[in-house]
Amino acid sequence: MICLPDESEETQRRKIEHIDIILNKDTQYHDKTTMFEFVEVVPSGKKIDSGDVDASSTLLNKKISAPIFISGMTGGHTATFEINKKIAVAAARAKIPMGVGSQRAMVENDALTYTYDMKKIVDDLILIGNIGASKLLKYDNKTVQKMLDSINADMLALHTNPGQESVQPEGDIDFKGVYGRICNLAKNIKQPVILKEVGNGISKEVAEMFDGKIFAIDVQGAGGTTWIGVETYRSKGAYGKAFWDWGIPTALSVLESKSVFSGQVWASGGIRKPSDVVKALAIGAGMCGVAKPVLMSENRGGSEGVYAYLTDMIDGIKKEMAALGFRSVEELRNADVKFGGPLTSLMRQRGLKIRNERRGQSY
Ligand SMILES: Cc1cc2nc3c(=O)[nH]c(=O)nc-3n(C[C@H](O)[C@H](O)[C@H](O)COP(=O)(O)O)c2cc1C
Repeated sequence: MICLPDESEETQRRKIEHIDIILNKDTQYHDKTTMFEFVEVVPSGKKIDSGDVDASSTLLNKKISAPIFISGMTGGHTATFEINKKIAVAAARAKIPMGVGSQRAMVENDALTYTYDMKKIVDDLILIGNIGASKLLKYDNKTVQKMLDSINADMLALHTNPGQESVQPEGDIDFKGVYGRICNLAKNIKQPVILKEVGNGISKEVAEMFDGKIFAIDVQGAGGTTWIGVETYRSKGAYGKAFWDWGIPTALSVLESKSVFSGQVWASGGIRKPSDVVKALAIGAGMCGVAKPVLMSENRGGSEGVYAYLTDMIDGIKKEMAALGFRSVEELRNADVKFGGPLTSLMRQRGLKIRNERRGQSY
């Protein structure tokens, strides 16, 4: 349990409460999964040793150990500075990009900038800034640019989270005008923009609106942490329980977004096993993000714990790629993929036509 000083502002208090809930309560989807269990990567037939597998990739022309990253979680409080610091040291050591949590607290109080400024701790790190998309109704482009530049962020993740906001006691569900603000911001700031959910997924209708407007869509779909669930503990009402499992499963959300969005589509939300990453890459994801498991490993083992988590994950990805006969991420991206019944049915009903690049066929 982290003790909160009385003088803390509402934004900081909420962030600390979220961490306590994530660490101590059930925040997992109950009746829904990511649906990666319905994705099968067809082995290539080649015999490959895991020692010969190269799982590395690039992001913004920088080499990373594997196409995975730490999804934005925290910052804005002395206690969360310590968490971010330990995560950042491990991320830089493992050569994996890292996101910070919503930078709203530092926009409200710039004395808190240091809690997000991880490049001051480790300079060789790809750092992803973060702010709620609806905050763009309040913050102009200059404010956001300053927010990113003050921590030397390489990219910006804009989170959209109507499900969470609708259950959150102090939630704000006024998203009118946000689409135009996102497009305008993406055109006018230096950093590439990623639109992310927080665990409820992004539909093809939404993804299509952003085609050609932003760098990436990070689906953050259903099957891992439910933020409607997290807010249900805070709201003390029954409403959240009814919507606990609301959201688009991550695998389906990736396929939906890929069908209409020509930029990168990232697969996050419920990524737990190396096989989730391998399957996500095979269906076309550019990167895979992990949130809760990283916080849990930091809580158990500090920076070493996060480093061990990341290196185990990378090792597992290599072993799985070897077992399937793929020497590189590029080869894996051209793999043949088959889909199990429920996912195929949903894909058909959603009218998805995705080309398998290697075979020139549509699923
Ligand atoms: C403690 C914690 C705090 C989070 N805070 C933020 C945040 O400030 N901004 C954001 O975009 N997402 C935030 N998230 C959501 C994650 O980035 C991610 O979308 C979500 O947890 C689903 O991923 P998971 O199943 O791997 O946990 C947070 C997640 C955790 C665990």
